[in-house]
Amino acid sequence: MEKTIEESKQGESLVLEHKAQNSKKLFIESYGCAMNFSDSEVVASILSDNNYNTTTVLEEADLVLINTCSIRDKAEQTIRKRLAKYNAVKRDVNPKMKVGVLGCMAERLKTQFLEEEKIVDLVVGPDAYKDLPNLLQEVESGNDAINVILSKDETYGDISPVRLNSNGISAFVSITRGCDNMCTFCVVPFTRGRERSREPESIITEIQNLWDKGFKEITLLGQNVDSYLWYGGGLKKDFDTASDFAKATSVDFAQLLETVAIKFPKMRIRFSTSNPQDMHEPVLHIIAKYHNICKHIHLPVQSGSDRILKAMNRLHTRDEYFRLIDTIRSIIPECAVTQDMIAGFPTETEEDHQDTMSLMEYVKYSFGYMYAYSERPGTLAGRKMDDDVPELTKARRLQEIVDLQRQHSAFRTQEFLGKTVEVLIEKESKRSNKEWAGRNSQSIMVVFPKEHYKEGDFVNVKITDCTSGTLIGKAVGLSGMN
Ligand code: SF4
Ligand code: F3S
Repeated sequence: MEKTIEESKQGESLVLEHKAQNSKKLFIESYGCAMNFSDSEVVASILSDNNYNTTTVLEEADLVLINTCSIRDKAEQTIRKRLAKYNAVKRDVNPKMKVGVLGCMAERLKTQFLEEEKIVDLVVGPDAYKDLPNLLQEVESGNDAINVILSKDETYGDISPVRLNSNGISAFVSITRGCDNMCTFCVVPFTRGRERSREPESIITEIQNLWDKGFKEITLLGQNVDSYLWYGGGLKKDFDTASDFAKATSVDFAQLLETVAIKFPKMRIRFSTSNPQDMHEPVLHIIAKYHNICKHIHLPVQSGSDRILKAMNRLHTRDEYFRLIDTIRSIIPECAVTQDMIAGFPTETEEDHQDTMSLMEYVKYSFGYMYAYSERPGTLAGRKMDDDVPELTKARRLQEIVDLQRQHSAFRTQEFLGKTVEVLIEKESKRSNKEWAGRNSQSIMVVFPKEHYKEGDFVNVKITDCTSGTLIGKAVGLSGMN
């Protein structure tokens, strides 16, 4: 998953269609990566079968759930502030309200949450959501309840997520859970457990349901999607000891991606996140072969310095990363590549930082997610390395990385000038209610006059202008994807 799949989103309260027979109200708010947002849809589905409809009005909720992120200290501070807000509502408006903490921070802090935050009645880790109905009964009887057991095989493959606050066009479909990589800065292996893959049939069924409901785009989600491997269930690390039959009938990511592309030729397919050491040529050929697979790879590197990559336990070198970039460009010339970068990892020198800058110059990423290093308790870096780069130095290096990325983003958007790109209309443009906005295959936002087109249409758009983040153009007709 790298830094995250998409960690830029703020908390979002979610609504789903109501079941008339349900009498209780659930307010659920999500923070962190796309995996958390996707999990909240699983949770809403489980609770909609247990007498809860969602609400966006915090004050009227019987149950408030906050799906939390631990990736950085700042993310955790945001959650603490929200809990303080819930506390005030409970005290002043709704004393019967129960509060539960889900997700990565629940897994990291476990019972500590119940001790530190008196408002919290319920703590549930990412693999224990099916236990929510039992835990809620416990809470109803006046007790605190907790389940943070990580699972070897839970993938929620049998739950049909309820699409919350959805535009009805794009949806996440999770395909793996957990991560076996143990990057030294990362809390995810501790909060999400070991890597396991979801049964292909349940993935296909979920996509079919989305297609039947009119969805046009899916993102296959996992902390490390290229490592997807189905061999009948269980942890990825146990594959070597699986039976010959299980090995012979196993399905890897390239096979899964191809199956989805063939079965749903008019559905646009994205995936996230790719880990450089697990991305291999077969998957690149599949991306190149099928028009409906987007030409965009989110390929976090975190640093351009070999010494820092090693200290981070990233299992590739700078040169290997360059070779992978060259291979991507030769097989899929139009492919956008995007990054996650950490500034100021422990012991990072000016020279290491310059290596990051020169790596960025080589790749010229389309966009990226960039952060200053934040020490996470319990990780190897947190336990064994001094967070010794001064905050001011981290901030300055981060700014240099962000500025360089802005130049490269502008370079990449300018490459589209005069070209025609296929856009899936997702929403009204923020700058004008007379314009549509949607992404092209490379995941760059495109805006253009609405004319007679409608949300969910695939439209060919001729690009006439751009900023560093957006393409501006005019529709020249519907594309063959409709
Ligand atoms: Fe990503 Fe590494 Fe964290 Fe796994 S351990 S989620 S690969 S950053
Ligand atoms: Fe995602 Fe944050 Fe957990 S990025 S996996 S919610 S630590």
